[in-house]
Amino acid sequence: MQEIIRQLDEKRSAARLGGGEARIEKQHAKGKLTARERIELFLDPGSFEEWDMFVEHRCTDFGMEQQSTPGDGVVTGYGTVCGRLIFVFSQDFTVFGGSLSAAHAQKICKIMDQAMKVGAPVVGLNDSGGARIQEGVDSLAGYADVFQRNVLASGVVPQISMIMGPCAGGAVYSPSMTDFIFMVKDSSYMFVTGPDVVKTVTHEEVTAEELGGAVTHTSKSGVADLAFENDVEALLMLRRFINFLPASNKDKPPVWPTEDEADRKIPSLDTLVPQDPNKPYDMKELITKMVDDNDFFELQPDYASNIIIGMARMEGSTVGIVANQPMVLAGCLDIDSSKKAGRFVRFCDAFNIPIVTLVDVPGFLPGTTQEYGGIIKHGAKLLYAYAEATVPKVTLITRKAYGGAYDVMASKHLRGDVNLAWPTAEIAVMGPKGAVEIIFRKDIGDEEKITQRTDEYRQKFANPFVAGARGFIDDVIMPNSTRKRICRSLSMLRDKDLENPWRKHGNIPL
Ligand code: HXC
Repeated sequence: MQEIIRQLDEKRSAARLGGGEARIEKQHAKGKLTARERIELFLDPGSFEEWDMFVEHRCTDFGMEQQSTPGDGVVTGYGTVCGRLIFVFSQDFTVFGGSLSAAHAQKICKIMDQAMKVGAPVVGLNDSGGARIQEGVDSLAGYADVFQRNVLASGVVPQISMIMGPCAGGAVYSPSMTDFIFMVKDSSYMFVTGPDVVKTVTHEEVTAEELGGAVTHTSKSGVADLAFENDVEALLMLRRFINFLPASNKDKPPVWPTEDEADRKIPSLDTLVPQDPNKPYDMKELITKMVDDNDFFELQPDYASNIIIGMARMEGSTVGIVANQPMVLAGCLDIDSSKKAGRFVRFCDAFNIPIVTLVDVPGFLPGTTQEYGGIIKHGAKLLYAYAEATVPKVTLITRKAYGGAYDVMASKHLRGDVNLAWPTAEIAVMGPKGAVEIIFRKDIGDEEKITQRTDEYRQKFANPFVAGARGFIDDVIMPNSTRKRICRSLSMLRDKDLENPWRKHGNIPL
């Protein structure tokens, strides 16, 4: 017994030491925390229950039988964040560069399977040199086992990837199938092929940071949702973010107490929309003023910023916010914004998170870049996502709701539950000037006539009343009462019950 306890202590110490002091120092010198330090910071103090500390790799090639570390380069288990159960794996770069062996993959799969059984999120802290080169196809098989679970867990439990070091080659495809990807600036990168291969094949010279760093993926590619300054900020923000999410698709979003009154008036919103319909204003002002405690957790702020997405709370309950941003491209929908918002709407729908949509959209962005890029297919993603969503949908039109984009943005016709408008709303096929130039083309050149026709069109459609008369808008509300009216709508919808017809799965235009 004494001997076993001694061995146990020895194995635990070896596992805790990972790749050894020197490699830990190297990790710290790069400004990175170790796998265990990350878990400690992420989870509630003392809540971590580690599994598979004694798992070792089984490779006997290339002298690997001489080199083994208990735990094999990934720390796995479960714990809590603000008292709520979370499963976590944290790759240990100090052990074979965090590379993935068959045993390493098996550990990740085990916690994923368990998370699905009990209904709790899975968080991956990624820091890995990819496939364990010494293991060959066993490592590739391990990746595929993880991929398969990513797909089966999709829409069942939230999956979040925090990239905190290298993530290259086929290894990127596990994070890419999770719901959210966060990255740490300057120390993490993701790419399918690295700078050397890129140089050989395309003769482009590019650094790892330029090719797949946090800034690249949060502003150019849209692969990642947020970039953080360092490990500490990243893990603390991850704690904040996870507090918005339900534990699984069978759960309702968590409710956090708030002192912010549901009927709080916001007088400054009465003057948010400028008199001139072509002048922009910041939709984020409406969002932050409207939500509980002005706390809006925005995702992808630097990518396709013509649409805003993120999490917030109303009366303590999580809501997903989708909003056109008139400050960027006049709030037009384009390929990137449709993909960005479409995926977010689907996440909210999968996890019972009501969607609040704020509309000021002059239409889809015209041009060959958009058409050749497939705006027809990509724009349809957002339309499809809204149309299939069965969660509560509350929509507010603040100003423009033109053309197909009016339909797309959670309109009544796509089963919007509550559709409100401010008095400044304009709901029409297009803006008055464009409309008149088409339907009164013969009058072009006659300024007086054109002005008169434009005024006529504006009188008729540049208001919310035509849509209101048809019941497409449930009410026209004063901007200052926005929070109260949306809170009431969400409260009324709390037990909404709607199901789509049975099918194996739909065929979203991918
Ligand atoms: C085994 C690995 C490893 C790997 C790193 N190491 N990557 N061991 N398999 N894939 C080991 C190194 O030998 C070294 O061991 C330690 O980890 C730290 O690595 P360094 O190179 O010293 O660190 P650094 O300079 O920071 O460079 C990190 C790196 C580099 C950029 C990740 O190690 C690297 O390029 N690794 C190979 C990456 C790769 O080609 N992976 C396969 C990709 S293909 P010691 O003992 O010296 O500390 C892939 C396919 C997946 O992943 C397919 C899924 C379908």
